[in-house]
Amino acid sequence: MDVNDEAAAQLPDGIEFVYGDTSNEDDCRNAVAFAVESHGTIDVLVNNAAIQPKASYVPVHEMPKELWDRMVAVNFTGYTLLARHAIPIMRKQQSGVIVNIASGQAHRTARQVPAYGPIKAANLHQTRQWGVEYAREGIRVVSVSPGCINTPMVHATLAEQGGEAQVANRHPLGRIGQPEEIAAAVLWLSSDDAAFITATDLEVDGGLGAFAAFADPYPM
Ligand SMILES: NC(=O)c1ccc[n+]([C@@H]2O[C@H](COP(=O)([O-])OP(=O)(O)OC[C@H]3O[C@@H](n4cnc5c(N)ncnc54)[C@H](O)[C@@H]3O)[C@@H](O)[C@H]2O)c1
Repeated sequence: MDVNDEAAAQLPDGIEFVYGDTSNEDDCRNAVAFAVESHGTIDVLVNNAAIQPKASYVPVHEMPKELWDRMVAVNFTGYTLLARHAIPIMRKQQSGVIVNIASGQAHRTARQVPAYGPIKAANLHQTRQWGVEYAREGIRVVSVSPGCINTPMVHATLAEQGGEAQVANRHPLGRIGQPEEIAAAVLWLSSDDAAFITATDLEVDGGLGAFAAFADPYPM
């Protein structure tokens, strides 16, 4: 059983799973066609698939060009490929929501993230540009910028940064986030309760982004 089979096996009844590489336009076209054939509509597209390989944690002058190209292809172009096939369906039905998963690193930076950070910042601008472009056609576009969330992507870096407790302590809420907390934000932004929200971003980060650690006189 490979990782995709494992993911498919964990899905609740009624959820369908389509294999694909989001950097491949045919796969994106197929995924959208599958959704339309199965359900007749696409109400929500969540652009979530992204990579941050360990080899990308280097200063920009050491960044292998092939890795840069791959990260752009998945983390940036992939979002556009899925959107450009879903948007014609949403335009036809005059409704739809696109949620781009960005990152706290789209707003602030650090050492050794010369690809991930700038490309995540570009996800914010995809959100603004598409949001403005399609606003009069019933399509809303928003992004969510997670802080540190307990997923396989961060497990290796958590260990390198002194463990989860150390990283958790940097967050004003005193813990890292759970994937369900990002899902809840995506669900709310996709709902009609968020009908006046488009072309903007929501940081879901336990207060991390607002906290100027250098200026805080009290240990947390
Ligand atoms: N975990 C965090 O702390 C954190 C923080 C900020 C932003 N994010 C963002 O949240 C999103 C989800 O990240 P995660 O932490 O769950 O990462 P993850 O590595 O745990 O999971 C990423 C998923 O994307 C899939 N994927 C990767 N490349 C793909 C491709 N080309 N085509 C199709 N699927 C592909 C992987 O199979 C995996 O299931 C990403 O956009 C990431 O940048 C995560």
